[in-house]
Amino acid sequence: MLDDLPKSLSQGVFQSGKSYPAWVRFSNGNPDPGRPDIKGDARGMAIKLLSSPAEADWQSAAQTTMQDFILISHPVFFAKAPETYVGVHRHLSSDGFWTILAIPFHLGLKGSLIALEMTDKQIANPLYTRYWSEVPFQLGKGQNRKAVKYSTRPCTARANEPPDDSEPGDDYLREAMKTTLDQSASCMEFLVQLRAGDEMSVENSMIEWKEEQAPFIPVARIHFPKQTFDTFAQNTFCENVAFNPWNSLPEHEPLGAMNRMRKVIYERTSKVRREMNSVVPAQ
Ligand code: HEM
Repeated sequence: MLDDLPKSLSQGVFQSGKSYPAWVRFSNGNPDPGRPDIKGDARGMAIKLLSSPAEADWQSAAQTTMQDFILISHPVFFAKAPETYVGVHRHLSSDGFWTILAIPFHLGLKGSLIALEMTDKQIANPLYTRYWSEVPFQLGKGQNRKAVKYSTRPCTARANEPPDDSEPGDDYLREAMKTTLDQSASCMEFLVQLRAGDEMSVENSMIEWKEEQAPFIPVARIHFPKQTFDTFAQNTFCENVAFNPWNSLPEHEPLGAMNRMRKVIYERTSKVRREMNSVVPAQ
């Protein structure tokens, strides 16, 4: 955490000068693992702060988790309410012509445009990308709690255009991170945006909290040491570790309808994932 954090932000893990060990998982939004990186997609960044350094092992990570932060490469979500999201996914699970019509039907014009913009972005390197929490979280407890959103960005702004070769490798994003971290350490800033008016909705996740009205304030730096992360052991860990916005201190508890829905869904899908990977018995 940065030194001299303002008192209004000094809650939970945000304590001047404190540091925490962490795991960070970068992800693609599209469920197809074979999809070439050059096709646009939403990219995720999930951060797990630990109470003590832990092995690259999902049980150790679960036992020492203090706080998860989950961010994605777009400032707003494409669905304003849980019903909208469920409606879209019900159709996504069936193929065909009606799916194409069902998405705009459920999301409406604004949601469809957000979904297009969100999934159309091409990047050069996940470490050079900006991410947002999209949905709000509380800061503090009791009557004085505030609503905030989070963002991360590289400590030094860098060009993030995709490679201009006609055919970059399908996994060029992983390769870009490997090259960067093979050569040197990397750094990102963690920022907090304080809600500054009634028009900044807590429940409607399609409404952007405009930065001109509520600037993002840097509170921490994420230090990625020089490392070799693309090993069998670490990739296995990465498949099984689970992030959930509800892995949270009370001071950072998730807010809003979307987050309420995420609680049960993330718990369930991470369990199914571990069952499919045969690291826990299927029930
Ligand atoms: C009701 C709304 C949402 C639902 C139903 C939903 C559902 C899911 C599910 C099922 C997963 C996989 C979890 C796992 O298997 O461990 C996931 C992961 C993820 N979600 Fe959401 N999500 C929602 C909202 C959001 C929002 C608002 C964001 C914005 C930051 C977001 C960002 C992500 C990211 C980055 C991941 C991957 C995190 C990781 O590395 O584990 N989701 N989501």
